[in-house]
Amino acid sequence: MNRTKLFLQVNGLLHGGDYNPEQWLDRPDILEKDMELMKKAHINSVTMGVFSWAVHEPTEGNINLDWLETIMNRLYENGIYTVLATPTGARPAWLDEKYPSAMRCNELGVRNHHGFRHNHCMQSLEFRERVGIIDEALAKRFAGHPALLMWHISNELGGYCYCDTCKKKFQEWLADRYDHDIEKLNKAWWTTFWSHKYNSFDQIEPPYANGETCVLGLNLDWKRFSTWSATDFMKYEIKVLRDSGATEPTTTNFMEMFYDYDYHYMKDFIDVISWDNYPEMHNNWQTDADQLLERSFNHALFRSMKPSQPFMMMESAPGLVNWRPYNKYRRPGVHRLISMQAIATGSDTVQYFQIRKSRGCSEQWHGAVIDHIGTDDTRVFKEVAALGADLAAISEVQGSVASNQVAILFDWDNRWAIDDAWALSNETKNFDKTCMSIYNEFMSLGVEPDIISSDMDWSSYKIICAPMLYVLHDGIGSKIADFVEHGGEFMSTYFTGYVDKTLLANLGGFPGDGLEKVFGLRSEEIDTLYPDDKNHITVFDKTGKPSFSVEVSDYQELLRDVTAEVLASYDEDYLKGTPAITKNSYGRGHAYYVACRTSQSDIEFIYREMLEASNIAYTKLPTGVEKHSRYTEEFRYDFYLNCDTKPVTIPNVNGVDILTNTSIEDTLTLDGYGIAVIKNHL
Ligand code: GLA
Ligand code: ZN
Repeated sequence: MNRTKLFLQVNGLLHGGDYNPEQWLDRPDILEKDMELMKKAHINSVTMGVFSWAVHEPTEGNINLDWLETIMNRLYENGIYTVLATPTGARPAWLDEKYPSAMRCNELGVRNHHGFRHNHCMQSLEFRERVGIIDEALAKRFAGHPALLMWHISNELGGYCYCDTCKKKFQEWLADRYDHDIEKLNKAWWTTFWSHKYNSFDQIEPPYANGETCVLGLNLDWKRFSTWSATDFMKYEIKVLRDSGATEPTTTNFMEMFYDYDYHYMKDFIDVISWDNYPEMHNNWQTDADQLLERSFNHALFRSMKPSQPFMMMESAPGLVNWRPYNKYRRPGVHRLISMQAIATGSDTVQYFQIRKSRGCSEQWHGAVIDHIGTDDTRVFKEVAALGADLAAISEVQGSVASNQVAILFDWDNRWAIDDAWALSNETKNFDKTCMSIYNEFMSLGVEPDIISSDMDWSSYKIICAPMLYVLHDGIGSKIADFVEHGGEFMSTYFTGYVDKTLLANLGGFPGDGLEKVFGLRSEEIDTLYPDDKNHITVFDKTGKPSFSVEVSDYQELLRDVTAEVLASYDEDYLKGTPAITKNSYGRGHAYYVACRTSQSDIEFIYREMLEASNIAYTKLPTGVEKHSRYTEEFRYDFYLNCDTKPVTIPNVNGVDILTNTSIEDTLTLDGYGIAVIKNHL
């Protein structure tokens, strides 16, 4: 595993975050104080310019970037690098006043008023022209600046625009997708249903809230189009920067399992993956450890997008956020835990929103490194500074990457299609949670999965789990067949392989696209249970004798034509005695099918079996402990995180803890929220 440095200038991990000095240009004393405090907090980078457009260009064409250069230089003299944003996350008033097409239209097609942020029409040519002018000015001024680490494109791109320009673009996009043949689209969308047939592409409208929302192929293509549109906007900004001489890497900050866009599509057009991580700690419905496992899943999702290089945790909150229903401070020690979890999972950065609190407006009570009190002795400041020192202590992990052999499939359009399907129960579909629960089960066995799309490269994986893979993209049936045939262990569940990429049902039984032979079965019906309904299944031992019973909730499928080995069968209801979990030998591998919803820990034997068949070592970790590994060509770094308040002892750990520089022999003891980074030669 070669080390990959994201930033040529920096040796070590990046520690910093969003800094908005444009809010304080009339307070040089504050800016000086910030510098002093940043240095005390071991901060080595800031992200600037995110919302600076109205300062960069106070009136149209009147661009002044001197203030930014002065601050960038001053920071650089003090050892602080800059991530520079294009300012397109929010627009100045003059722009919307003169070019109203920049403002997005809502799902009724009605134009928004000026205000808020992240709400532009990404296809407005007038808006793009203004974007081009400011981005070009930034690139011409700052490309090649020794302090400049990278370009941050816009900020948290999101949302849909239903304006006439976007409608037209959507029609053109569809025409391209369906070979300019409206009959192809009609077939794919099954529009004879309810007489919804189109005669031409220009009859098609976006799914307005008061318009067409029942053509599911249209709904899904609208989401795919909106992903394309945002990506097209992002690519446009990158092109302007490149054409103006910028050579530094680019990123845009993704958001946790964000629903609007398919990040697997967007990822290929930026150099570095970054995301904004805002855990909801100490909440009243789950343990801290469970909340952190959700974070861990997100980290894995973003890490797996470019597996050969580290990613960036572009934002996180020092102390607390201010936009949740309840905004609770993180308890002592938790800042370190959250930050180290990012590094453990493959991030080379811990960045915050924000370095200093804004004095007014809606984010004045959002956590920051520097609070309104302005001192270096607040609890949050001290924890940030201590973390900075920890990051320096483990700086050698920079550029190391994960190397996992287990993957879970997570396709955005599958997620959208499941939610949009008029089937199951809208209360319990829970695709995301189902993927996470499988992730958690592997994690509890000390095995870290990657989270990938069905279209990505599977060649480094020995085990793949594809829960609820309802939509099969072209070629995925044979990709699964090949994987299993060549020795892969594959696990799937109920609600798999029901439709193709246009959402037409697969004929001839599920899972379709040739998968019935891989799994050795067909699924005939899926039954939805009320929350109080339960069924049970009996799991058999190797000799075929009943071994233990497992509760079933939410969903149960009736299987038929089963030639696979039956590992469990239903106990009750009309499904009694029929297969519930099966295993099919196919080529050199095995295909498991879990036809009903159970807790993953109840069917842990499947995961153990797959790991054993793949020669992947595993050890059950104590509750609340996460283990992650990063590799270089020479070393393995095992991160152990105690996500619980109680101390814990972990057996069979050997190596040097580079956080404390102590040798660990056999047993690692961690305090509540404690962390160790154990280094070993490969
Ligand atoms: C997002 C944005 C930031 C800020 C934070 C607050 O991540 O990118 O500008 O608003 O939320 O948590
Ligand atoms: Zn639009």
